[in-house]
Amino acid sequence: MPVRPRRKPLVVGNWKMNLNHREAAQWMVDYSGMNDAWEARMAASGQPLDRPEIGILPPFTSLQSFIETLDERGMKGRLNVGAQTVSDIAAGAYTGDISADMLSALGCRYVLVGHSEQRRYHPEDDDTFATKMRVVLDNGMRPILCIGETRTGREHGIGIDYALRQLGEAVSQMSCEDMTRVVVAYEPVWSIGTGNVPDLNVIESALADIRDFINAGFGADIAAAVRILYGGSVKPENAASIIRLNDIDGFLVGGASLDPCSFAKICHRTAESSVTRHQRPASRGFQRKGRMKLSEFQNPELPESRRALAAQVARDFPDTLSWRLSLALAAYRTAGFSWLEVRAVQDLIEAADAAGSALEEGPDMLRDIIWDSRRQIIEAMMLLIDRDAVQGVYSVDQWLVESDPRLTHDERCARLVQTYASSTCMRAYRFMNHGDEDYETFCRDFMEGYLSCDANTDNRRWRRRGIDRYKSRPWFPGREGSSAE
Ligand code: PGA
Repeated sequence: MPVRPRRKPLVVGNWKMNLNHREAAQWMVDYSGMNDAWEARMAASGQPLDRPEIGILPPFTSLQSFIETLDERGMKGRLNVGAQTVSDIAAGAYTGDISADMLSALGCRYVLVGHSEQRRYHPEDDDTFATKMRVVLDNGMRPILCIGETRTGREHGIGIDYALRQLGEAVSQMSCEDMTRVVVAYEPVWSIGTGNVPDLNVIESALADIRDFINAGFGADIAAAVRILYGGSVKPENAASIIRLNDIDGFLVGGASLDPCSFAKICHRTAESSVTRHQRPASRGFQRKGRMKLSEFQNPELPESRRALAAQVARDFPDTLSWRLSLALAAYRTAGFSWLEVRAVQDLIEAADAAGSALEEGPDMLRDIIWDSRRQIIEAMMLLIDRDAVQGVYSVDQWLVESDPRLTHDERCARLVQTYASSTCMRAYRFMNHGDEDYETFCRDFMEGYLSCDANTDNRRWRRRGIDRYKSRPWFPGREGSSAE
């Protein structure tokens, strides 16, 4: 039976803007006392142990005193030090900034990149994070890249996609060798400092998606080597259950790392779990065939022949459900089909103009392709609706009408009346039909009745709740954060 790859677990304490240099030294003294007592207990019990690697990220001003106390207590090599951020520039007139060289000269092993609090209070773009990753690696340290979605993101179902996009931007220029030195910390933003930890299965599936993603970009060996941490309200009380999940390699701990006793307990729970963790069968994460084929299909580097093959596989693969669902969600989160079509035709016209060739068959061919994918997407949408996976959506038509940006308010209302009527009619027919009435007759009578009852559309539910609510949805084109581009 395959066993989990032996990635050394890692527990990192992020002190944020807490503990001055004197408090940092005292923390070290208290922690090493706790740790010595635990080591003695474990040695007496004879239990085999795989000690996690441990890192502490003090504020810049506490780094030096922390490192000195570490030496004095004989803890050097048993506990590593790192920084919470770094400049993306090597040196120069950048008041207040700290370079990677300065950190590496102090003996730092880790540097956090893209922590959500940095993203929020010192907004920087993805390119800057990618450069920071580069300078950290070039200075012999290891970046801990933080990724994670906000609560709104999760509620709108764009959770892990958002985190994967952050990951993709940060590592897009990396070689496989670089990637093995990167640590990824999955931290749902809404869980940081709030005491709210996602369900264990949500964490597990996010970690598996992250490993899948690394597999798609760098291959299975690298995916098996990269350490993925969980962060967000980790405490001694929940550490033992989280560390048992598949694909997890440790924690990024904020609040609980300020107390040496709590932090030591989290490290100890991680060490105690190591034996059972490594005996479990390998995670199925990056072996999911459907997903691998999908990523292959999306890879623009693929030669044409392989791309056609991958497309064929994606279409015919027995596990088409996840492929279809992703497709439907992608459409749902972007702009609707009409927009897709208009945009694609425009692109084609521009490409033909640029190439100086006349468009004859082009738009028709393109439209055929779009209609074909549209058919596939609609099938997937029907599946999602049938399974109640899309909140408040009753029919494909409603879905399309709501996401078509070209409709005016009145057109949208009129179309929705029709779509609600026909889907209600369909449901009613399914529910009431005893086989003695054909659908067309039933539909004609039903629709007539329904629409006349509904003449005053002001009273309709969607009017009251504001039909244009769709404009606040993240996938609406033109909105910040839309994945339409
Ligand atoms: P928390 O912080 O453990 O206090 O939730 C985690 C982090 O910010 O890395």
